[in-house]
Amino acid sequence: MPALLDEAERIAREFEYPADQVQRGVDEYINQSNEGLAKENTTLSQIPTFVTAVPNGTEKGLYLAVDLGGTNFRVCSVQLHGDTTFNLTQSKIMIPRELMASGTSKDLFLFLARQIEAFLRIHHNEHFEAHLRRPGDATNKENMFDLGFTFSFPVRQLGINSGTLIRWTKGFNIPDAVGHDVCALLQSAIDELYLPVRVAALVNDTVGTLMARSYTSPGETGTFLGAIFGTGTNGAYVEKLDKITKLQTMEGAHYDTSTGEMVINAEWGSFDNHLSVLPSTVFDRELDADSNNPGVQMFEKRVSGMFLGEILRRALLAMHQDPALGLFKPSKTSKVICPENSGLYRQWGLDTSLLSLVEADKSPHMAEMKTAMYDHLKIENLSDVECKAVKILVHAIGKRAARLSAVPLAAILIHSGKLQTENMVDVGVDGSLVEFYPNFDGYIREALRSVSKVGEAGEKKVRIGISKDGSGVGAALIALVASKDETLKSASEK
Ligand code: BGC
Repeated sequence: MPALLDEAERIAREFEYPADQVQRGVDEYINQSNEGLAKENTTLSQIPTFVTAVPNGTEKGLYLAVDLGGTNFRVCSVQLHGDTTFNLTQSKIMIPRELMASGTSKDLFLFLARQIEAFLRIHHNEHFEAHLRRPGDATNKENMFDLGFTFSFPVRQLGINSGTLIRWTKGFNIPDAVGHDVCALLQSAIDELYLPVRVAALVNDTVGTLMARSYTSPGETGTFLGAIFGTGTNGAYVEKLDKITKLQTMEGAHYDTSTGEMVINAEWGSFDNHLSVLPSTVFDRELDADSNNPGVQMFEKRVSGMFLGEILRRALLAMHQDPALGLFKPSKTSKVICPENSGLYRQWGLDTSLLSLVEADKSPHMAEMKTAMYDHLKIENLSDVECKAVKILVHAIGKRAARLSAVPLAAILIHSGKLQTENMVDVGVDGSLVEFYPNFDGYIREALRSVSKVGEAGEKKVRIGISKDGSGVGAALIALVASKDETLKSASEK
């Protein structure tokens, strides 16, 4: 079936993202990010997080953290030992689909508070009982937990423990929460159940990743950037306070100015929503048009795990429906079976983890890939040529995502001037794509080298390391900072 491979190669070429386009992307990212630092309501949100220092590994204490941002809700308690190590106890629960997309915010937050209650009863019952014996006693502080709330959606923050939801992403859609303070929503659900918990900090997962990396591997200068390449994508970095000029116009904003810095949550998933420089294939356009938030998160829709599987599914389906190609169609020479209930025919029916499995199988007859195609799509008896065609597309889609990922990284590095200093620049990353898609970081590095103000020398200065548990340890660290800062505490109590 040479026509099949030719067509796969032709589609793959549409996903090429060459060096000159990477460069244009970087230049435009720098423009949009400067605009975001100066004004509110821009494409690239550049959200001030009110976190004004990164940890150095000596932080100590017991904190709670919860994480809402993907398909699971996680509750954990973190004991920071103060010597770059920690212990973490956690529980994870899948969020019922109806709470993610059709219920009310009250239903969702009460569900979250109930999970916190169950966790406390199992793992910290002594605090819980002590609190119940003296409910409402403000002096009973030793049994109160400070909680870091990792909430990985775009939020307009006004302080370290308050922020209003700008919009939902990643398949969540609970309209009555938009515009409301998500910390207050969680705190009132917690109070309704009389739990000994104070929501001390609001944390984006990228900020948590940055903090966790800085705590566990403190170098001479601390970590500069935290990024997620998982279900969604985003990054947070340390910015000079005087460059965040919009802070002066944000009424009610309170923060510590002593370090002269603040962590910015870029929300780069919405970089270039108006598509001035992002590449677009017919599959990208159709995916967006059929999504529940057309026209937004356009960068994320080309890069992150929520979407790559769907891009591949659309490309495979188009080839399958082309009678000249015979992909996944039985014939005299092929006994391939693609049943009607295959995910191939259903929106979101192809999980991005399939791309990592396919890309990883380099064996001549691709046995593991064939098993994965059956497990994920119920497609059986694939020929080697069909496998090759799928592989060509997977490679093209995954590589484009990785090269696109280099755009915000290069832009932020250039903007910060960090590559001009002697020190290594430390970047903490997390998420299923960097962790499991083969050579994702290698393709990122290749694209970084091609950017004029980064080059080989600059790329060598960047140390990229996986930083697990940002949403647990990172959130605990921010809760610690927040709970120590009495000025913030009294401001939030007013
Ligand atoms: C959200 C970000 C988050 C990222 C990674 C995006 O969809 O808007 O806030 O950091 O996903 O989880």
